[in-house]
Amino acid sequence: MFKVRITDAEQDITCSDSQTLLDAALRQGTRIPYACKGGGCGMCKIAIEAGEFERGASSKEVLPDEERRMNYTLACKTYPRSDMMVRIQIG
Ligand code: FES
Repeated sequence: MFKVRITDAEQDITCSDSQTLLDAALRQGTRIPYACKGGGCGMCKIAIEAGEFERGASSKEVLPDEERRMNYTLACKTYPRSDMMVRIQIG
């Protein structure tokens, strides 16, 4: 179980390595916008500020390479691999 600090919400959640950041956040009362939960809409896009993670497959239309390099990710397709710090508001 990893600790994930949501910096702009000033909340800490826990997330297992088999749980997405979105599911963990929603279960623990942190609001992240979402619609599809399948990597297709882009509404759950967040910024990784620190930590290791693994991304599931998602469309490059929704998360282009440039945004991947900027450490943006889709919360519904991201699994922690260490304690992390993330930001919900991007841009
Ligand atoms: S909820 Fe649609 S991409 Fe994550």
